[in-house]
Amino acid sequence: MKVKNLYIQTIGCQMNVYDSEKIASTLVSLNYRKTADIGAADLIIVNTCAIREKAEQKVFSFLGRLSRLKKNRPNLLIGVGGCVAQQQGEKILERAPFVDLVFGTHAIARLPRMVKGVEKHAGRVVDVEKASAIEPFDEPPELPKSGQVSRFVTIMQGCDNYCTYCVVPYVRGREASRRPEDIISEIERLAAAGVREVTLLGQNVNSYGEKEGLCSFPELLARANAVEGLLRIRFTTSHPKDLSTALCRAFRDLPKLCRHIHLPVQSGSNPILKRMNRRYTRENYLEKVAELRKFCPQIAISSDFIVGFPGEEPADFEQTLDLIRTVEFDSLFAFKYSDRFEAPASRFNDKVPEREQNMRLQRLLEEQDRITLFKHRSLLGSIQEVLVEGVSRRHSLPNGDAGKPLVGALQWTGRTSANKIVNFEQDALRALSRENLKGRLVRVKIEKAHAHSLWGIPLNTATVPSAVKGEKSYAA
Ligand code: 5AD
Ligand code: SF4
Repeated sequence: MKVKNLYIQTIGCQMNVYDSEKIASTLVSLNYRKTADIGAADLIIVNTCAIREKAEQKVFSFLGRLSRLKKNRPNLLIGVGGCVAQQQGEKILERAPFVDLVFGTHAIARLPRMVKGVEKHAGRVVDVEKASAIEPFDEPPELPKSGQVSRFVTIMQGCDNYCTYCVVPYVRGREASRRPEDIISEIERLAAAGVREVTLLGQNVNSYGEKEGLCSFPELLARANAVEGLLRIRFTTSHPKDLSTALCRAFRDLPKLCRHIHLPVQSGSNPILKRMNRRYTRENYLEKVAELRKFCPQIAISSDFIVGFPGEEPADFEQTLDLIRTVEFDSLFAFKYSDRFEAPASRFNDKVPEREQNMRLQRLLEEQDRITLFKHRSLLGSIQEVLVEGVSRRHSLPNGDAGKPLVGALQWTGRTSANKIVNFEQDALRALSRENLKGRLVRVKIEKAHAHSLWGIPLNTATVPSAVKGEKSYAA
């Protein structure tokens, strides 16, 4: 059977990155192989995100590009999946008549059948059915063929929290956890294939397993910590209301658990947190931060903020700025509130004008930039263990980073346990100059602090010299 090319465009969150891997895996049975060249694609899939208005706009502007592509190549197939597909279903076909198939977040397992249908010109299809006869987690994504240092592993899906601004419970459905033995065996297979770091994914990992009576999240982490060959474990996202003492303790006790937590707070004002239905106060949040730092003083904390939520007064926003200064986050994501269909806040009357939202966003980001730089500077002179992810983009080789003769200094990029990006030049240490460092832990002395990254001098490779399987060496 002829090998066909599949191009996947992932828009939005990490959950979608994992789903895109699953989409690619299910289509292997129809002889589709992933390509990075959109011009060579037989099938293009857009995996969409509905979390904020901006993400949705991106989807439709990308679809605009595809309509032009399809005019020149009428045999090209185009599919739209993910949250926008789940929400809008048929409406996507009306708005983008050149699309061949639309599939929701619950329909990935049924995708091969749909693609087969459109390949045979059996007409356009839409599947946004929520109830799936197939257990959603029974087919984990394919193993990486060539060196991938880091992978996502979904441990649960859906959300039961109903924050008033959020569309997730409506499009992703009720919270459901995957069985621990399935998760651990997936991690074991990834580690055996050369993956060094996994990020466990869920909308609220802190309530993992509760509904089903499975093990707790800290217990799952302890089991992942025992997987041989794995170097690092990360997870996202944590809801502050469910952050347990056992999880705080895990940061102290589990050597592979990275010293970083993403703990979205959204606002520093109690009345706004109440209207958001977050079910904690700023005082509760600060207590959780203190507990995390008690067990693990070096822990990095990042967060999400929404500015200009309906009814947010200047005094509420000042409370948010004050919280940012009090906690001193390592980094944060900030978003202007946008109405989402079905989410209750879209029906709140007291919307904040966009001009005001822009000003608040600007102020918030400036405040954080100052803190981030201060935190980065405090690392000058320290020695950090960096898991190398690849050649940094700025210095990348013409053919990616796959074993070509080198010209000039090679610059690598990786992350510390606290999730700080560190770049360094290989030539800085002669002993490292010809090795492929991808997937290795390298000790780096920090020499420069930038706004979004650090720069340092490599000292030597740390204890686990494990080049990722399937990667060619850089040795000429
Ligand atoms: N408007 C703006 N930001 C939103 N987020 C979720 N819903 C909205 C919305 N309607 C943000 C929250 C969440 C992150 C993933 O996206 O900060 O933590
Ligand atoms: Fe959305 Fe709140 Fe659930 Fe996060 S916890 S996915 S913000 S409803």
